[in-house]
Amino acid sequence: MATAELAGKHLVLGMTGGIACYKIAELTRLLTKAGATVQVVMTEAATQFITPVTMQALSGRPVYTSQWDGRVPNNMAHIDLSREADAIVIAPASTDFLAKLAHGMADDLLSTLCVARDCPLLVVPAMNRQMWQNPATQRNVAQLRADGIEVLGPDSGPQACGEVGDGRMLEAAATYEAIASFFSPKILAGKRVLLTAGPTFEPLDPVRGITNRSSGKMGFALARAAQQAGAEVHLIAGPVALDTPWGVFRQDVQTAQQMHDAVMRSVADADIFIGVAAVADWRVDHASEHKIKKTAERALPSFTFVENPDILASVAKLPHPPFAVGFAAESGDLEVHGEEKRVRKKRTASDRQSRPTDFRPRR
Ligand SMILES: Cc1cc2nc3c(=O)[nH]c(=O)nc-3n(C[C@H](O)[C@H](O)[C@H](O)COP(=O)(O)O)c2cc1C
Repeated sequence: MATAELAGKHLVLGMTGGIACYKIAELTRLLTKAGATVQVVMTEAATQFITPVTMQALSGRPVYTSQWDGRVPNNMAHIDLSREADAIVIAPASTDFLAKLAHGMADDLLSTLCVARDCPLLVVPAMNRQMWQNPATQRNVAQLRADGIEVLGPDSGPQACGEVGDGRMLEAAATYEAIASFFSPKILAGKRVLLTAGPTFEPLDPVRGITNRSSGKMGFALARAAQQAGAEVHLIAGPVALDTPWGVFRQDVQTAQQMHDAVMRSVADADIFIGVAAVADWRVDHASEHKIKKTAERALPSFTFVENPDILASVAKLPHPPFAVGFAAESGDLEVHGEEKRVRKKRTASDRQSRPTDFRPRR
């Protein structure tokens, strides 16, 4: 998880009344661990869901809940708190609060702070699916976007009320990533990055197969970094137990052939291809349809292997390949084997015909 972008940042974390307030305890922990200063401001309704005591303990700063709070020397918390801030993040953002923001209302500390701000505002909606779909909410969200306010999420899935649909708040980790992404320099803005990650799984029968020790962490970290750098990211993942980085489009596959086919279907749109997956070189010619049983004679099974397609080589030999990056895991003579692999995959240093790609920083 990227932390550098958040170190030293000063955030006002505004909480409004919703069940998702429980996620903000974890979000606060993640933000402070990354070195951000978190000033929590809660609406009266938010204090019904989680106490200011908890939020003070986690943020390490007194929490503000009222505009009549005399702790700010000039008694103008609604102005002063945002003047120190790099951004205000409203999480969870209730239906009510989105409506207030869209109409510029200022009838409590948090809403007044937002109207009086001179820093970016990010909102993380959290509500029941009908509240989210309500035309008034949709109008308000469209207005917020038009006003330059970042709307992060919402997520889709089971809700606290028992219904299923759009409207639930992003998980704390995803909200954290989205905030980090907001602060990251967009050096890959406008670029499309296609990555593979993780191992592949080549079946022997319905319950067994050949795989490898790839965790997928490297590919997922690169996908996250590319997204945070502003790229549109398509991640094709083998079987891994990892959360999808926020803002990344993920496609799951099992076998090398499936991964190859998925890459070849999408590579024409990519400016950059990064093959991080540990792709199996071979697969069993014909996987058994049924579980292979031990026999009374204890005869060992035997398999015939065939070669899998080479994904990086297939990409590299396209007439107009994207800028292609490969990885080599070796057990010895690393540079020799790595260079030999690069040449074999037809991408020697003097033989680059990649589509031109401009990597200059945008800001
Ligand atoms: C148990 C309970 C859960 C609620 N959950 C949500 C919610 O997830 N999202 C939402 O927009 N409103 C929710 N509400 C309604 C808000 O708390 C209510 O609209 C409140 O006025 C919001 O005030 P605020 O925007 O000033 O924080 C819930 C209310 C209750 C009683």
